[in-house]
Amino acid sequence: MSGPIKLAAGVSWPLQLATETLLIVGKRGSGKSSTATRIAEQLIRARVRVCVIDPVDVWWGMKAGANGRRDGGLSVVVFGGSHRDLPLEPSGGVVVADAIVDQRINAVISIRGWSNRDKARFVADFAERLYNRNREALHLVCEEAHEVMPQEPYKGEEEMLGRMLRLQKLGRSSGIGLTSVTQRPASLNKNATTQAEILIAHRVLGPQDVDAVKGWIKYHDDVGKTAEVLSGLATLKTGEAWVWAPDFPNDEPLGLRRVQVLKPETFDSRATVVAGKKRSEPRSLASVDLAALREKMQESIARAAADDPRELRLALGLEKTAHAQTTRQLALEIRAKERAIAERPAPAPPRPTLKGTHVRRLERAAAKLDAAASVAQTTAEAILAAVRSGRSLPETPSGARPETAPDGRRAAPEPAGRVERGGNGSAGAYGRRLAVGPGSAKPAGAGKQAPLRTDGELSLRPESAGGSAISGGEQAMLDALAMLDHRMISVDRNVLASWLGVHPNGGRFNRSLKRLRALGFVTADGSPELTERGRVAAHLPRETGIEGLLDAAPETRAIVDALRDAPPVIGYSRDQLGEKLGVHPNGGRFNRALRRLRKMGVVPKRGGIVLTESANR
Ligand SMILES: Nc1ncnc2c1ncn2[C@@H]1O[C@H](COP(=O)(O)OP(=O)(O)OP(=O)(O)O)[C@@H](O)[C@H]1O
Ligand SMILES: [Mg+2]
Repeated sequence: MSGPIKLAAGVSWPLQLATETLLIVGKRGSGKSSTATRIAEQLIRARVRVCVIDPVDVWWGMKAGANGRRDGGLSVVVFGGSHRDLPLEPSGGVVVADAIVDQRINAVISIRGWSNRDKARFVADFAERLYNRNREALHLVCEEAHEVMPQEPYKGEEEMLGRMLRLQKLGRSSGIGLTSVTQRPASLNKNATTQAEILIAHRVLGPQDVDAVKGWIKYHDDVGKTAEVLSGLATLKTGEAWVWAPDFPNDEPLGLRRVQVLKPETFDSRATVVAGKKRSEPRSLASVDLAALREKMQESIARAAADDPRELRLALGLEKTAHAQTTRQLALEIRAKERAIAERPAPAPPRPTLKGTHVRRLERAAAKLDAAASVAQTTAEAILAAVRSGRSLPETPSGARPETAPDGRRAAPEPAGRVERGGNGSAGAYGRRLAVGPGSAKPAGAGKQAPLRTDGELSLRPESAGGSAISGGEQAMLDALAMLDHRMISVDRNVLASWLGVHPNGGRFNRSLKRLRALGFVTADGSPELTERGRVAAHLPRETGIEGLLDAAPETRAIVDALRDAPPVIGYSRDQLGEKLGVHPNGGRFNRALRRLRKMGVVPKRGGIVLTESANR
């Protein structure tokens, strides 16, 4: 086995190691960080970018040679910590990730002494941005990995944990590999432990930690060497380790080896402090073109600042180290810019460009609205007259029901005198509800009469979004909720996200949901459901039933199409459906699409594959 990443005698790995996931465990002082440093150095020398999240503040040593001189040091930018090139703030996750992606730098992110809250905020933003933007090989080392992927997260750490686990699980598609280093494998999240593809186990003694190693082995061992490894764990010398790579490299897997890991080639900033002995520190560290980097980062900060004045404070921090003079200047600019942002008028809505067909459709819609409005007015007058004269409401107010609703669908007959329809999810309930008075927020129960104001004032007008402009994404979320309600599918975050084709932990999804909740379009907590106000703002697609599903992704659409002919109730088996579609029944895309349809409630969760009643509704 050969390759540029030389870990020990007889263990040299190819560059593909960059996108693998590794787990390095061992008790204090057993050599974990040295092993991780050795791997990082070799990757950097082979021109693969490396980034280290360092809660211990020891990784700056890579910037000097083993003898403490700058010649042997590597080009690494240290953010934060005692040897920082650039300062670091909890709000800087996005900017630092951008610098790594855009400026192709190696980075050490030193977060020693940060509160859990600051750490969680930085790492969550950083991991999300890296996952979304990185596309070239990058290896991320998490020193004391249980701090960013804890088995039992504190309140506020859940987002960080979720995003880090996603990075570990799915990062390969973004070019990202990950090494978790921990002396407490029992405290590292079980998903992080079992998902690691390569295990490097230094000396481990604690029974709980031995159990965590056992957990990994149970998951990966196909050679029956568990007993041999476990019995040897306590006897390993410093720097010695069991290296276990059952599937790497692909063509010639390493399998299991007991090796002495080679010493790192850069400065040992991890050396144990000996009482009474002064530690020598390198005088100068490898230089990076910081001025250029700072300038590039300022550009990215300026971009971020347009949306978020908080990021400007990071800019301030950056300048502080460089020139105190410029800092004052920058502070003035920041204040001016924050003021300008606060005073900035809302951007004018884009002017629509209409084609002839659009104009004709609008004209038709306007004519229908005209007709509907005049019917509504007649209804209002009849009801008003009845309320004022104390008479009972007429059976059917003259001309009160439009034959066709404004959106072209036929409206269902309603009980006499009802002006508001029940919120039971029928197609007619969205987008053209007539609200009685501004306070009628609750849906009228089926068969009950809608509340009327008793002061004789009666307003009949379609409820609108109340002037709160909502984005395209938020509208899509409202529309999806309307669709789910219409199809009577019980909704939770996962179901909603699968209808929208996004991840339930994604930033945009969360932001949209939060905003819709704040605006009162979606219930404030619990499963997201449309409020009365939300129902009015939502639109049901013109096509419901199976047709309404057909604008989903091609794979899901192909499955829905194929299922139209499936035998009722029994449906197809996975193999039969695969055969119909001409794909392998275990193919990745096919499986993903099927899983999504099951989540959406379009196909039953278990059993034969067939369209549910909800799909046809
Ligand atoms: N492969 C090695 N070859 C030679 N010496 C080593 C090796 N690995 C570690 N050492 C020595 O052991 C010391 C401690 O190693 P290291 O800091 O890597 O251990 P650790 O397991 O990360 O410890 P901690 O849990 O305290 O972070 C190093 O400073 C170095 O002197
Ligand atoms: Mg260490």
